[in-house]
Amino acid sequence: MARSLISIDDLSNDEIEAIFELADRFLDEMATPGKPYRVRGRRTLARDFILSTLFYEPSTRTRLSFESAMLRLGGQVISSAEGSSSSASKGETIADTVRVVENYADIMVIRHACEGAAMVAADYTDLPVINAGDGGHEHPTQTLCDLYTLRAAHRQKNKGKDLSFNDVTIELRGDLKHGRTVHSLVYALARFGARIIPSHAPGCDLPKHVTQRLARDYNCLLLRKQEIDELGGDEVSSDDFPEFVYVTPQEPHQRTLWTGAEADVWFRLSLEQRKALREMKTVDFFYATRFQRERHEPVDGQDATDDYPAIDVEMLKEKRYRQTQVMHPLPRVDELSYELDQDPRGVYFKQAAYGVPVRMALIAAVLELFPSLLKGSATRRYPIFSNIEGVRCLNSRCVTREVNERRYLVPKFAIVDESPLTLRCAYCDVEYAPQIVSRSTKKRYTDDLSEWREIYDRNPKDLVLFASEQDAIDAGHQRQGGSKSPPPDPVVAAPAAK
Ligand code: NCD
Repeated sequence: MARSLISIDDLSNDEIEAIFELADRFLDEMATPGKPYRVRGRRTLARDFILSTLFYEPSTRTRLSFESAMLRLGGQVISSAEGSSSSASKGETIADTVRVVENYADIMVIRHACEGAAMVAADYTDLPVINAGDGGHEHPTQTLCDLYTLRAAHRQKNKGKDLSFNDVTIELRGDLKHGRTVHSLVYALARFGARIIPSHAPGCDLPKHVTQRLARDYNCLLLRKQEIDELGGDEVSSDDFPEFVYVTPQEPHQRTLWTGAEADVWFRLSLEQRKALREMKTVDFFYATRFQRERHEPVDGQDATDDYPAIDVEMLKEKRYRQTQVMHPLPRVDELSYELDQDPRGVYFKQAAYGVPVRMALIAAVLELFPSLLKGSATRRYPIFSNIEGVRCLNSRCVTREVNERRYLVPKFAIVDESPLTLRCAYCDVEYAPQIVSRSTKKRYTDDLSEWREIYDRNPKDLVLFASEQDAIDAGHQRQGGSKSPPPDPVVAAPAAK
């Protein structure tokens, strides 16, 4: 079974480290003299393989560095660089395109405006598929480049070998809402134990499904101002931080339920955490992003970027930012001053250069040019619920809502929580709480949500979940026992009266 990379979670931490060790090897053997971050020359490792790039959205770095990586491995490249020049403009679906292109290449790299598009591609081909950005959802290969950059800087400072960032504080700035690079990055940072300070532009905070996943899947603790003040004691004040911060616990701990103003927040009171908060007063890395204009609704009469946070040399004079290295996935607009290009703390061009050795290593791993590199198989963490009937994803950017793709796609959700029953769209990750459980076969529903498990264990295909009772009724389902249903339609009821 081909290994695809759709979400950063498709790679284990050990596999990420193995990819980085191979990237190190490529750099050791192929670096440009005086520029240890830039690969030059060609190998013959991938001479029997062709990489295809299917880019339905603009790209410079990602597409060219993938193509350069494949060429430097000795392989060949075929490209569809614009949606408008491919059959997508004639209405061809992703499923059909990949089933055609799989005959022409050995590995596919896809970028698309719909969230979940890369997963659709992977579902319809037996070639490995690499997600080069699916709408505002994820961009896992940029995260590999980001982590590799962090690792290089961290190693220089600590001479450490393992890829643990539990003493690293990173401040994310800008458009955290639609920045797909940020979404993949926060999941990886949480997995590697980094401390995250989200510093978003107005109206650009992390989407709810991302913060829910940080808490649920990675045990990330969200500390709001009130908790920061309580934990920080005399040394740390919430004035030092934006709205909230994330800390990933390093060890099993006792959890305490804190009822915050907006939501229930889990956190633990521990010495270690106090120490973490103190250390967060100095920031090791900035991760800046541009305003993702193409994904925002136009704002009437005002420029949404007016209050957009920018980084310049002046700002880096502040005590907590004096040692801060500045990263950016690029392209930049106004959020990063050009003066920083001469400052050794600006590492964004190196970050872009690392795109080649990192993608060489990824391609080599996925094509099994080094057989034992990807040892595991992508694990499925949660049960999957999929039924043409019942709940559908309501995210208008989800691939399941796209006019062409919805002709054939069946909604698919992970059941991420049993109490309250919570579904996560398998394509775009947006979460939902269904209200009604029913069966495809009997079409009898109940609002006793605990019944889902019994139905699912007997036959997962029989389970139907509805967002509301009305949806169940509209789909022709009836309440179990028939008691609480609204009065039947009089026209339908009439024959029963005779
Ligand atoms: C990013 C992207 O496409 O999401 N660019 C990249 O791949 N390096 C960031 C962006 O476009 O802002």
